[in-house]
Amino acid sequence: MLFVAVGVFSPECRLLQSRAANFREEPALPWQGAAAQIYAGAMNEAIRPTSEDILQASVARQLSVIVPTFNESGNITALFERLKTSLDGTSWEVIFVDDNSPDGTWQAVRALAQQDARVRCLRRVGRRGLSGACIEGILASSAPYVAVMDADLQHDDTQLPKMLGLLQSGQAELVVGSRYVEGGSADSFNRQRRGFSEFATMIAKRLLRVEIADPMSGFFMIRRDRFEQIAPQLSVHGFKILLDIVATARGQLRTIEIPFTFGSRLSGESKLDSMVALDFLGLILAKMTGDAVSLRFLMFALVGSVGLFVHLLTLDVAFNVFDIRFAEAHVLGAVVAMTSNFLLNNFLTYRDQRLRGFAILPGLLLFYLVCGVGLLANIGVAFSIYDQSPNWWLAGAAGALMGVVWNYAMSGIFVWRKR
Ligand code: GDD
Ligand code: MN
Repeated sequence: MLFVAVGVFSPECRLLQSRAANFREEPALPWQGAAAQIYAGAMNEAIRPTSEDILQASVARQLSVIVPTFNESGNITALFERLKTSLDGTSWEVIFVDDNSPDGTWQAVRALAQQDARVRCLRRVGRRGLSGACIEGILASSAPYVAVMDADLQHDDTQLPKMLGLLQSGQAELVVGSRYVEGGSADSFNRQRRGFSEFATMIAKRLLRVEIADPMSGFFMIRRDRFEQIAPQLSVHGFKILLDIVATARGQLRTIEIPFTFGSRLSGESKLDSMVALDFLGLILAKMTGDAVSLRFLMFALVGSVGLFVHLLTLDVAFNVFDIRFAEAHVLGAVVAMTSNFLLNNFLTYRDQRLRGFAILPGLLLFYLVCGVGLLANIGVAFSIYDQSPNWWLAGAAGALMGVVWNYAMSGIFVWRKR
């Protein structure tokens, strides 16, 4: 209640008053009776427009800058200071979309947001992913133009006014900060990273017929209306949101690339690991099949084929090498395949919701449990085939396939459910 009172007694304190206004929307509890009256007073003050309100209302926000973050606490203040300088004279806001960083990035953002209303914090729990964070951040903002950039100062904020100008003048609908047009560079990359970046760019251009020079860039600005049209078709997995946007738009976005120098990271580490390559592959395949195949499904299929192989290999070794009876060898194959499926899915397919530490054991047990029914079906199918003709591999494969399909369907619902 303290800040309601402060709001009443210091009329210049607009920020606090508007908080009181928001607070009013929550139903008053019985013990809040007296407080509600103070509120009403605060409200009358709050809804009376001050000259500053009128000024603010007429300067509608032009630009929302979306900054996905994961363990970037050391970069937040520096980036905000840079934005203040480079966007001076523009009406803007910055939305940090943080995936519950263990280093407390979201706390640093909240502290900043308490001091400056241009800063907002979107803290996501129970999910991970750069593309998804960008999509949510963009959709949670409302300026007619939105930019996406790294938190670590690798992207050149001084280009933002130029990018905004190109959009506002209607010359482009999408402006890409590009390392691979004349004047741009990525000198801070090591040889391996540069090689991968160039290879991925080449693949994307060839397979998806993407025309721009740097579809892998993480630095761009787009018109909100155009983004909102495309948003439902974008993948929330992976790193390559720009490539996804450009590929999904199929040449229908008027795009200009402007050069920039990809700088060095100020603080912290890159989150781009070897798994990003898998995401990239999945995105390419999904886009090539007209989104008929989702990334998650592709990974399911990949893990499934490995599971089938593990099952058959175990069965082969148990049945043919150790002379274990078919029934037992087949069950052993299924258990080993289930375990490896669980581990691989936890590592690859569901790495954004990965079960860690103590959660792994109950997860595995749950996985066994939900697959128990599948295992019965698996064994049933395998036995009935084996009864008709004692062909171990045909019976084993048919049973395993039954089990794998069941595993996929159930694990998505029960084991890696969204919390
Ligand atoms: N919310 C959220 N969730 N943010 C994330 C996640 C995540 O899972 N992973 C990374 N980020 C944030 C980082 O904190 C950083 O602000 C930004 O996304 C980019 O991640 P970096 O770890 O800095 O990536 P990079 O510098 O190695 O890669 C950059 O360059 C690539 C071009 O080669 C990024 O801009 C890529 O998007 C770009 O493709
Ligand atoms: Mn970076």
